[in-house]
Amino acid sequence: MLKIRPATEKDTLAITTINVLGWKQGYSGLMPNSILDAMVVNEKRIERMKEVISSAEICLVAEDESKVVGFLTGGKTRNKDIPYPYEIYVFYVHPDHWRAGIGTALMQAFKKKIKGAPFGVYMLDGNERALNFYQKMGGIRCPKFDCDTEINHTMIHDIFLKFEGEND
Ligand SMILES: CC(C)(COP(=O)(O)OP(=O)(O)OC[C@H]1O[C@@H](n2cnc3c(N)ncnc32)[C@H](O)[C@@H]1OP(=O)(O)O)[C@@H](O)C(=O)NCCC(=O)NCCS
Repeated sequence: MLKIRPATEKDTLAITTINVLGWKQGYSGLMPNSILDAMVVNEKRIERMKEVISSAEICLVAEDESKVVGFLTGGKTRNKDIPYPYEIYVFYVHPDHWRAGIGTALMQAFKKKIKGAPFGVYMLDGNERALNFYQKMGGIRCPKFDCDTEINHTMIHDIFLKFEGEND
């Protein structure tokens, strides 16, 4: 049975693995192969993920039959110009488990955690899978907050979606 619970340090390897696989399969054709090929599970990445987990205000994992199959981190909005109090920072489901309702379960748990407050998320432009998912979850495109980030000398265009609060 699928269970959503807060992440612990013991989940670090599983979360790092899902993150790497999610990049490779989710962003194939959207990012240069050089960046995707460099995504590997190694000590450095595991250590970095440990910090992400311990510092995130919210870090949830989805567990199925005692195996971690997805995770989400989030917390206060990082860009002070964005008028939504919360933000999803990182959100990945293991590719072997896509389209099985795990993302939906994590999203519902996140909304509960922030008590139905409004929030936003940045995602890679052209990531139709994630766009369909977020729109199904109620996300609305908000182009004025789109932004560009540089990853390994490659400019990446991120688009922004907002989610209205459920208490308004
Ligand atoms: C985006 C992601 C988190 C969705 O997780 P998921 O567990 O597969 O999503 P769900 O099974 O809960 O899907 C819920 C709904 O979203 C939509 N959806 C999800 N994947 C879709 C796809 N590939 N194509 C079209 N619609 C899709 C559907 O409406 C789906 O409902 P349905 O299956 O009843 O039609 C997952 O695909 C993923 O980890 N992708 C790679 C990483 C990524 O892009 N993360 C977002 C970064 S910001």
